[in-house]
Amino acid sequence: MSRPSRESPTWDPTQYLKFEEERTLPCRDLVARIGLQSPASIVDLGCGPGNSTSVLAGRWPTARLVGVDNSEKMLESARAAGVSAEWVLADMSEWVPEQAFDLVFSNAALQWLVNQEHQVSRLFMSVSRNGAFAFQIPSGEGDWTKALREVAESSSWRGRFPENLVDLRTHGLEFYYDILSPMSSRVDMWETEYVHVFPSTQSIVEWTSGTAVRPILDLLPAEQERESFLADYAAAVGRSYRSRPDGKVLFPFLRRFLVAYR
Ligand SMILES: C[S@@+](CC[C@H](N)C(=O)[O-])C[C@H]1O[C@@H](n2cnc3c(N)ncnc32)[C@H](O)[C@@H]1O
Repeated sequence: MSRPSRESPTWDPTQYLKFEEERTLPCRDLVARIGLQSPASIVDLGCGPGNSTSVLAGRWPTARLVGVDNSEKMLESARAAGVSAEWVLADMSEWVPEQAFDLVFSNAALQWLVNQEHQVSRLFMSVSRNGAFAFQIPSGEGDWTKALREVAESSSWRGRFPENLVDLRTHGLEFYYDILSPMSSRVDMWETEYVHVFPSTQSIVEWTSGTAVRPILDLLPAEQERESFLADYAAAVGRSYRSRPDGKVLFPFLRRFLVAYR
């Protein structure tokens, strides 16, 4: 169920930030529930365009902040956002800090790592005594993933993508609990299904094209093919979600949260 082993997708901060408010809300919810008074050092793994780092800076303005991401484009956008932090271009699956951090944080990024069992326990080693490891990951379950799979398996596209690329499900909380509880003094976990109100199903296509669908599009080198795939995907998404009487579309999106205290 981990992400398949392949190169990182190409990220587009502008596409990603089209839904900045909705994407940052779970980060705010996670930060609000972390029971640390004043962590002196915080690392934001997969910091993206700095939206999550900015929330961390808001709650703990005196902490030393480090943002780690392996996309130069995302880091450029983070630098421009004006949050006071050190920005590090690195693959978090290989990242080893010189000193432990009071808070190791990650919002909507750990799902991209392969071999999560190893990675999650490895990252917990970078948490200082009395510190915490806090993360949020999307579940990857929903009608849009079914629509994506339906298109990828249709006669036009069958065989073009590795099977596990289209399986976007992530692990349940019990998976992370079993890894982290032997090392932690306490583990808090919860799930929240956000229900976004969108003007049309095209917003669902836009939303997922900013994240989960990126590696799939990366496998289609020709612009025309990408457009054709997106058109098929948009049609499948259009069949999967029904408009409300006011014409809006509800987009349920399940996210999982965990805070492990050392
Ligand atoms: C969905 S964005 C999350 C951005 C931000 N943290 C937020 O709260 O919205 C995921 C980010 O993780 C980064 N990422 C994915 N795999 C990574 C890796 N192996 N190492 C470092 N960053 C990674 C991507 O470049 C992207 O910026």
